[in-house]
Amino acid sequence: MIMETEIFPHRHLLGIQGLSPVEIESLLDLADSYVALNREADKKRGVLRGRTVINLFFENSTRTRTSFELAGKRLGADVINMQVATSSVNKGETLIDTAVTLNAMHLDVLVVRHPDSGAVKLLAEKVNCAVINGGDGTHEHPTQALLDALTIRRRKGRLSGLRVAICGDILHSRVARSNIHLLNIMGAEVRVVAPRTLLPTGIEALGVDVHHDMRTGLRDVDIVMMLRVQNERMSGNFVPSTREYFHFFGLDYNKLALAKPDALIMHPGPMNRGFEIDSDVADDVERSVIREQVEMGVAVRMAVLDVLARGKS
Ligand code: NCD
Repeated sequence: MIMETEIFPHRHLLGIQGLSPVEIESLLDLADSYVALNREADKKRGVLRGRTVINLFFENSTRTRTSFELAGKRLGADVINMQVATSSVNKGETLIDTAVTLNAMHLDVLVVRHPDSGAVKLLAEKVNCAVINGGDGTHEHPTQALLDALTIRRRKGRLSGLRVAICGDILHSRVARSNIHLLNIMGAEVRVVAPRTLLPTGIEALGVDVHHDMRTGLRDVDIVMMLRVQNERMSGNFVPSTREYFHFFGLDYNKLALAKPDALIMHPGPMNRGFEIDSDVADDVERSVIREQVEMGVAVRMAVLDVLARGKS
């Protein structure tokens, strides 16, 4: 029998960068088994019985927080949600104080979302428990990339050799960064498609082909991954207007026609319908796997909690 510690020999999950193909495959295999469990009437297992998971979210979240909560509960752990109003947080000092306080309560896993890149890693250095990055600033969102990979692998049977276009607000997207790392590690071919204002300088260094036009960027791709335009992280005018953005970079059927006929449509959510994606395209049952991504999110988070918390002291 393979032990969870052998699958994943790390104490924390802070990012995708640095993981090996075998570690990623093993996590996805374990998550696959949890997809099956989640479709049964009795979804509960006791593998994390007696363990405590705390969700510490300094930013808004629907999918990530809820699915971590469900994941922990389905594995039998006690799960506590802490909502921290961003406005009242005195960064740095408060973050460390909070971590040290929670640490004293003998928890096993801390899931953290924070608006600052690097904050989760900083916190991980101050505690004894396992830390999972639930999204830090514009840096990484590893469980999102894993759930995207699981969705793709189940539909396409593989990740390697696939051509993936990640489109839209790359600049502010931790989802894009984690996906770029994961897809490269697994041997996929990654393109980013975005206006110049929404691309970080030097993005090519991450191993992507850069396109500024959806007409070239979507040509013959297997996967079209759309991103939300993150207005809340923008201090000025990064995009001209909703209508103009949609015209050039929004996913509609005309642009989708350039991708392979069986290309899948993905979006991490929350969606801005009519801004980065046409509503009918988003709801297209033949092509869109957006709801499936949410389902995979619970299974992936169960796998991650399992490998980090089971059998560890
Ligand atoms: C993403 C996030 O928070 O990074 N959402 C999510 O976790 N599904 C993407 C986004 O907010 O646009």
